[in-house]
Amino acid sequence: MLLLPQNIRIFRYDSLKASHVFVLQICRDIVAALCSSKGKKHKKFLAHDQGNSFVFTLFDQLGYLASREQMARIIAVFNQAGGVAKTTVTQNLGYHLARRNHKVLLIDMDPQSSLTTFMGLDPHEIEMSLFEVLVKEKPLHILENVLDMDFSPTNTDLSAAEIQLVNEDLREFRLKSAIEPVQDEYDFILIDCPPSLGLLSYLSLVAATHILVPIETEFKAFNGTEKVLETIARVRSKANRKLKIAGFVPTRHDARKTQNIRCLGAIQEQIADIAPIFPPIPNTTNFPNAAEARLPLALYDPKQKSALNSLEQLADAMEKLS
Ligand SMILES: Nc1ncnc2c1ncn2[C@@H]1O[C@H](COP(=O)(O)OP(=O)(O)OP(=O)(O)O)[C@@H](O)[C@H]1O
Ligand SMILES: [Mg+2]
Repeated sequence: MLLLPQNIRIFRYDSLKASHVFVLQICRDIVAALCSSKGKKHKKFLAHDQGNSFVFTLFDQLGYLASREQMARIIAVFNQAGGVAKTTVTQNLGYHLARRNHKVLLIDMDPQSSLTTFMGLDPHEIEMSLFEVLVKEKPLHILENVLDMDFSPTNTDLSAAEIQLVNEDLREFRLKSAIEPVQDEYDFILIDCPPSLGLLSYLSLVAATHILVPIETEFKAFNGTEKVLETIARVRSKANRKLKIAGFVPTRHDARKTQNIRCLGAIQEQIADIAPIFPPIPNTTNFPNAAEARLPLALYDPKQKSALNSLEQLADAMEKLS
C-alpha cells in the first residue's frame, strides 16, 4: 500500500518573501488535512525551515516515520525469445497492480518501443528516451498517470545506447542509478526488456530486484529457458547477487492444442523446482486487439474472465514477493 513519503520538501523557500510564506501556509494546511484524513496512517508532522528549503516530516500515530510498508519491487520482465508476450505482460500486470492502488512505474527498455506504443504514445514524438538516461546520465523521464501508471517511454534512439556505452565505466549500473532517486515513490517498477541477451537486458537485470519470465507453451520455449537461467546466473555472479526469480508465466496458451498442453505440463514438471509457475495466460486475439486500441485487456474487454483471472493471480503473486 502506498503511504505518503517520509518527507515533503519545498525547494527554494525564502522566509523573507511574503509570497513564499503565503504558499507555505497553504502547503501546511494541505499536509495537515492529509494527516487528519480518514484512514491515513500518518497522523502527525513536523515542519522544519532548512534555510533554502522547507521540509514536512510525517509520522504515524505511534510516532514512527511514515514510510512505505515495503521497498519497491523492481521486476524485469525478461526472456531473450521474441514475441513471448513480455510487453503484454508488463502493461497488463502493471495495470492490475495499479488498480489495487499500488503506485506503479513502467519502463520501456526495448528500442522497438512496443510498450511506448501500447501505452498510447507515438515513439517519434518522445522528447527524451532511455538513451539520454543511459548514455547522457539524464534523470529518468517519467510521464505521470498514463493508464493509471507512471511511465518512462523510449524510442529507437535507444538502440544506439549499446554501442555508445561500450567503453563507459560502470555502464552496467546506468539504469539502476537512474531508478534509485525515484524508487521510493513506487510500490512496483516493471521493466519491459528487449528480446536479446545484450547490454540493455543486462542493465535491466542489474537494476531489478526480481525477474519475471514470460514463456510460451511451445516446444521451443525449453531451449530458451536454459539461456534465461544462464543469464540470471551471470548477473548474480557479477553485478546483482540479490536478483530473485519471481517466477515463470506461461503465455499465449491454447488449451485446445495438444502441444501446448504437453508443454505446459513439462514446464510445470521441470521448472517448478526452480521458481513458481503462474497460471497460464490464454491465447486470445483480444490481447492484440487491446494493444491496437492502446489499452490493457481489463479496460478493453472486462468480460475476458479467463485471461483477466490469470493476470489477477499474477498480481496476487507479485504482491507477495519479498
Ligand atoms: N495471450 C495472448 N494471446 C494472443 N496474443 C497475444 C497474447 N499475449 C500477447 N499476444 C500478442 O503477441 C504479440 C507479441 O506480444 P508482445 O509484444 O507482448 O511480445 P514481446 O515478448 O514483448 O515481443 P518482443 O520480443 O518483440 O518484445 C503481440 O501482438 C501481442 O498482442
Ligand atoms: Mg516486447
